[in-house]
Amino acid sequence: MLKGKNIVLGVTGGIACYKACELASLLVKQHADVQVIMTENAAKFVTPITFEQLTGNKALTDTFDRNFVHSVEHISVADKADMVIIAPATANIIAKLAHGIADDMLTTTVLACRCPKAIAPSMNTAMLENLVTRDNIETLRHYGWEIIEPDSGRLACGAVGKGKLPAPERLLECVLHTAAHEKDMTGMKVLVTAGPTREALDPVRYLTNHSTGKMGYAIAKAASRRGADVTLVSGKTDLAKPAYVNVVDITSAQDMYDAVMAEAGNSDVIIKAAAVADYRPATVSDNKIKKTDGDMSIPLERTTDILKTLGENKKEGQFLCGFSMETENMIENSKAKLSKKNLDMIAANNVKVEGAGFGVDTNILTLITADDQKELPMMSKDEAADALLDEIMHKR
Ligand SMILES: Cc1cc2nc3c(=O)[nH]c(=O)nc-3n(C[C@H](O)[C@H](O)[C@H](O)COP(=O)(O)O)c2cc1C
Repeated sequence: MLKGKNIVLGVTGGIACYKACELASLLVKQHADVQVIMTENAAKFVTPITFEQLTGNKALTDTFDRNFVHSVEHISVADKADMVIIAPATANIIAKLAHGIADDMLTTTVLACRCPKAIAPSMNTAMLENLVTRDNIETLRHYGWEIIEPDSGRLACGAVGKGKLPAPERLLECVLHTAAHEKDMTGMKVLVTAGPTREALDPVRYLTNHSTGKMGYAIAKAASRRGADVTLVSGKTDLAKPAYVNVVDITSAQDMYDAVMAEAGNSDVIIKAAAVADYRPATVSDNKIKKTDGDMSIPLERTTDILKTLGENKKEGQFLCGFSMETENMIENSKAKLSKKNLDMIAANNVKVEGAGFGVDTNILTLITADDQKELPMMSKDEAADALLDEIMHKR
């Protein structure tokens, strides 16, 4: 996702330096060209060799080092940077950057960078809560820096509180959000549903399905990377909440219906990737656990068809996309759904085909509109999400 992008990773002298190694590796896996610039103190925690092996580039520390090829001089690094991320960021670097101090390779380069910049403060809670640090962070925010909020938990100094550097995956998400895609969906409101719904049988048991939410989460993240304002209505999943998305957690089909209807009127694009249970128990014994000995037959009733209701109430210019999970006659069944539910597009996938459907990290989609049918090859769910959004942007 970062092919052709030049990312400057600034590393400063905090105990969380080791997580910057993992971030460098994740960025390289996304095909970024990663230029690490370390402070001299950072090099006491992790050696430059580690970053050099991970990135294939010399890790820079010294502005006056003459032992380099011309293209790593601080102005050329700044000129070609698509984004700067400083992680971990010490109280010291935050203070220096907030006041325009340029006394080493990192601060000098960053001062010359016109690209988007993000910083991940990481320090002892008392240092973080000190008014001077808080003011410095606000100053950086004022100058347009994205501040990646520190996590709370047990810190290296033994104290418990706020100040932990977030996981490398969260830091990567920041870079992807800024640099991975052109912002062709800026100004659009996108509503995505994901995951399974659960229908209670009694206080202990429920009906559900195998959806893990991976496809819907990938779509929500991709739309947000493209600049859209995204709301994700999500059933229970094991996935981490996407950082730049407004997540509405729900449990049952009725919860999902209510949450979707509350947002639908404001949405330019609605993508229903959730696997909503079609049926729920007609009666739920709230206080008693159903007896399982003997007859287990349960009277069922249909849940409200969210997609059909959206199709019936589609507003002018709104684009409505559904998913269809099929085990046979995939194309015919999906085309029938497209017209019956008044959809603009349906993404069909066959759950019986290896590499498609629930749980796996890949999908094989066929994107069907009233006048077109596009078969996509097997791709990662992240790639499939972008291909689906490309098609929506092309068709609407
Ligand atoms: C073991 C150890 C751990 C440290 N961890 C942090 C930290 O997590 N955050 C921080 O702001 N400073 C931390 N410091 C203090 C910084 O290293 C110190 O302020 C230094 O001047 C920062 O230099 P730099 O910003 O140029 O890298 C730590 C110091 C030591 C000795």
